[in-house]
Amino acid sequence: MDNTLIAYFSRNGENFNVGNVEKGSGAILADMISEILGSDEYEICTEAGYPENLEECNKIARKEAEENARPELGNPLPDMDAITNLVLVYPNWWGDFPMAVYSFLDGINTENLNIYPVCTHEDNGLAMTERILKQAYPKANIMKGIAVRGSVIQNDRNHTESIIVKYLSDRNLVAK
Ligand SMILES: Cc1cc2nc3c(=O)[nH]c(=O)nc-3n(C[C@H](O)[C@H](O)[C@H](O)COP(=O)(O)O)c2cc1C
Repeated sequence: MDNTLIAYFSRNGENFNVGNVEKGSGAILADMISEILGSDEYEICTEAGYPENLEECNKIARKEAEENARPELGNPLPDMDAITNLVLVYPNWWGDFPMAVYSFLDGINTENLNIYPVCTHEDNGLAMTERILKQAYPKANIMKGIAVRGSVIQNDRNHTESIIVKYLSDRNLVAK
């Protein structure tokens, strides 16, 4: 779909319940969604990147969150002119988004944009992220989101695909 973009933030390396992964759970999910919808992907990453070591990553992520930082993005912003639907794939980081997701959303025009929150997590699901989006980007249409466990994505691709196909078809993004 030419009017749909999948923007994802995902991290390789050590994470909760999955050990050391070569490809982050959100990246796997974004690829799956891109294939199902036939839509482009955009990777939300920072210029500095995040360490593979979980403890080190936690320290940096915590500091960025405390400072309400907008870290510099590592990829130029995508052309959003023809985009009406944004599937936003992100990990739950302490009930919130990695700050790079705000750098991305602040950088694009979210007016009338349909945003579909797709959250990867290990226990806390979407937490308040849908509500946070509604408050921070009131001109966007924030759709009902979905939460998928990273450990499920890493270990059971078939189950993950069935969950995500149902989500996309319930939102009329793919034919039922
Ligand atoms: C800094 C950090 C904070 C996290 N905080 C939470 C949390 O509060 N709740 C939760 O369920 N998972 C939390 N997680 C786990 C991630 O949400 C989960 O591993 C997710 O699948 C990672 O996606 P990724 O592999 O695409 O980066 C956290 C992970 C990191 C690295």
